[in-house]
Amino acid sequence: MVAKTVYLNGEYLPLDEAKVSVLDRGFLFGDGIYEVIPAYCGHLFRFHDHIVRLQNSLDSIRIQNPHSPEQWLAILSPLLDTSKDQYIYLQITRGVAPTRDHAFPKLVTPTIFAMCSDIAPFSGRTEGIKAVTLDDSRWDLCNVKATTLLANILLRQRAEEQGCAEAILVKNGLVTEGAASNLFAVLDGVLVTPPKGSAILPGITRDVILELAAQHDVPFREGNISLAELKTASEIWVTSSTREIVPVVILDNQPVSDGRPGPVWQSINRIFQEYKKLS
Ligand SMILES: Cc1ncc(COP(=O)(O)O)c(C=O)c1O
Repeated sequence: MVAKTVYLNGEYLPLDEAKVSVLDRGFLFGDGIYEVIPAYCGHLFRFHDHIVRLQNSLDSIRIQNPHSPEQWLAILSPLLDTSKDQYIYLQITRGVAPTRDHAFPKLVTPTIFAMCSDIAPFSGRTEGIKAVTLDDSRWDLCNVKATTLLANILLRQRAEEQGCAEAILVKNGLVTEGAASNLFAVLDGVLVTPPKGSAILPGITRDVILELAAQHDVPFREGNISLAELKTASEIWVTSSTREIVPVVILDNQPVSDGRPGPVWQSINRIFQEYKKLS
């Protein structure tokens, strides 16, 4: 559920009073970027990492960052309820232009919107989910957290229509990531995730998992995974800020190992839950 108060362009407003012009380029073109930052009991998780990714997304689409990290923290903190697990959705578009023209308008002020929602309980987080592999039909800037999500939406919808909670995307025979998540596989006892680059979003949860694997002597590497290799994995997970580390127990209608969350997931998920509480 979205909290009753949201932030829009310098003001805290009731949700139903927050209005954006139909000439906003976010509305007309999807000309904007966003961040999703989880907050546990009012504490923004890996805030600095999210702000670095926000900066990278803004740089990629050539919007100047309107605020310093300290200012972002001051803007976002009042939206949080310290008694709950929530997430902030923060969106910055290029702003409102006088006419609809693809080229950037000369003088424009970015539109800044933020809202806070409760993290909904998700049973798949512990039980595991069904997933389906689909051709990655997205563009070459998947590292940018762009609001332009039409391909991701269509892929996720196709997965849902097949009774699956996520689509695992495949480009040129290699697995990239989920439609709204990063991907990990356990191959011959080693935790493997595709490397960063323009084919995937550099997930903050992904980075945390790699750090925790290194600290706890879990063998891991960043490397390409072919679809054929994925089919031999003893474990497959998809990861994101709001769903955390989700085991895939059925892939393309076939069980992954015995069709239950595996031992590496059990171990990393326990470590991750501890880490979350402490940070
Ligand atoms: C395409 C895609 N990849 C990866 C992720 C995971 O990123 P994070 O762990 O920062 O939430 C997301 C999150 O929504 C996503 O949409």
